[in-house]
Amino acid sequence: MTLAIIGTGNMAKGLAKVFSRAGNAVVFGSRDPSEAASVARGFGDTVAAASIPEAVAKADMVFLAVPYDAVAAVVKAAGSLAGKIVVDLTNPMKADFSGLAIGFSTSAAEEIARLAPQAKVVKGFNTLFASVLQNGGEVAGTPATVLLAGDDADAVAEVGALVNSAGLKAIVAGPLAASRNIEAVAALNIGLGYGQGKGTDIAPTWVGI
Ligand SMILES: NC(=O)c1ccc[n+]([C@@H]2O[C@H](COP(=O)([O-])OP(=O)(O)OC[C@H]3O[C@@H](n4cnc5c(N)ncnc54)[C@H](OP(=O)(O)O)[C@@H]3O)[C@@H](O)[C@H]2O)c1
Repeated sequence: MTLAIIGTGNMAKGLAKVFSRAGNAVVFGSRDPSEAASVARGFGDTVAAASIPEAVAKADMVFLAVPYDAVAAVVKAAGSLAGKIVVDLTNPMKADFSGLAIGFSTSAAEEIARLAPQAKVVKGFNTLFASVLQNGGEVAGTPATVLLAGDDADAVAEVGALVNSAGLKAIVAGPLAASRNIEAVAALNIGLGYGQGKGTDIAPTWVGI
């Protein structure tokens, strides 16, 4: 399976680490493919770089590791997303990180599904700090939990299988509208990590599942 990761920032690097380690082919899709190529070289032979539409065209699954405010431009640049699984890891935080900018009646993931109606949008990874992924996907010696939501059950299952094969733990939270709750959990995680000074080596999970 080829995975396109759009963006070359903190989350993109964390995903590239855990996915390439599990043997997946990864291609960064970037506004600056030559800069992205130098990022890709740090991950070995299975990680490449391309423009955003080239990366999307090669991939079965596309990860949006870009700021929420950049998503509309990225979806426009992506070319056809028809039939592709698009994993949204954005957190639509207010500029001062005091809380979510949207959330009661919609979510970032649902808005992305409206922007890309032919894609199978799945929410995931947004409750993990990038450093957790960059450190290999474990927190306190335990596989980090990836909360997933989506309306296409097969797509959610496929992302879940990828998560588990990469050594993390998938928990399915429900249809795409459950992203409102997942994004709120991420806001809580950010509040704990930064607002309450607990740092970024933390992650939410559910016991008993
Ligand atoms: N950092 C975390 O701990 C964390 C945790 C959970 C979720 N998230 C979410 O994950 C997403 C990525 O976060 P990040 O921390 O990885 O961000 P980041 O380090 O700032 O990287 C964002 C990447 O997005 C790409 N991009 C495309 N269009 C852009 C635009 N108009 N402006 C800026 N960047 C643009 C850039 O890649 P190119 O220059 O190569 O195009 C850039 O490297 C965000 O939505 C964030 O809410 C972050």
